[in-house]
Amino acid sequence: MAKMSDMQRKRVGVLISGRGSNMASLIKAAKLPTAAYEVVSVISSKPDAVGLKTAADQGIAAVALDHKALGSREALDAAVHNALIAHKCDLVACAGFMRIMTAEFIAKWQGRMINIHPSLLPLFKGVDTHERALEAGVRVHGCSVHFVSAELDAGAIIAQGVVKVLPGDNADALAARVLQVEHKLYPAVLQTLAQGRISLHDGRTRYVDDDAASLSVLSA
Ligand code: GRF
Repeated sequence: MAKMSDMQRKRVGVLISGRGSNMASLIKAAKLPTAAYEVVSVISSKPDAVGLKTAADQGIAAVALDHKALGSREALDAAVHNALIAHKCDLVACAGFMRIMTAEFIAKWQGRMINIHPSLLPLFKGVDTHERALEAGVRVHGCSVHFVSAELDAGAIIAQGVVKVLPGDNADALAARVLQVEHKLYPAVLQTLAQGRISLHDGRTRYVDDDAASLSVLSA
């Protein structure tokens, strides 16, 4: 694939609240010469998020917001939006961003903001997904990348990564295997979005080509 110039690359803002391992996988993939995007800013809803330091250490603008000090959902969303605009972001990747966003903010980035969720949606929206998957006795589990919509974890699914549930699994072991798949799937989806090969139409994902449509990962 052709080397991309900085001019051609989409500018991505990554939203985090904690560890930032998915953020790190997006940053790593952006260093490939063929990357269609660059991570220009990492914005956290928590000032002490570990991922902020990881980003800053790599020379990426790290924006520490404090959702508690900001006081309301509207104030946090306005601060996030202003930071994204200040860094001229084209696309937004939520990676463990633990705040519920307002419909107004989501509308501004509709079709340009994606999220990774640790379950095979529409199963197990919300938190504690690995515990709930084990509790339900499902034999396959995984992660989903979707466009962000006003309803939590309900936006159009773009791609999914599948993990087998193994006998004797506990939530930590399952989470670790799902996370390995997340780290492959999320950069692949962001690359494809940045290439303009995926878009949102009438609440559904539209794929421009067969490779974009077959974005999925099966782990061992
Ligand atoms: C991941 O499991 C992701 O799917 C979910 O939050 C977690 C974030 O982990 N949205 P990390 O901060 O990327 O390590």
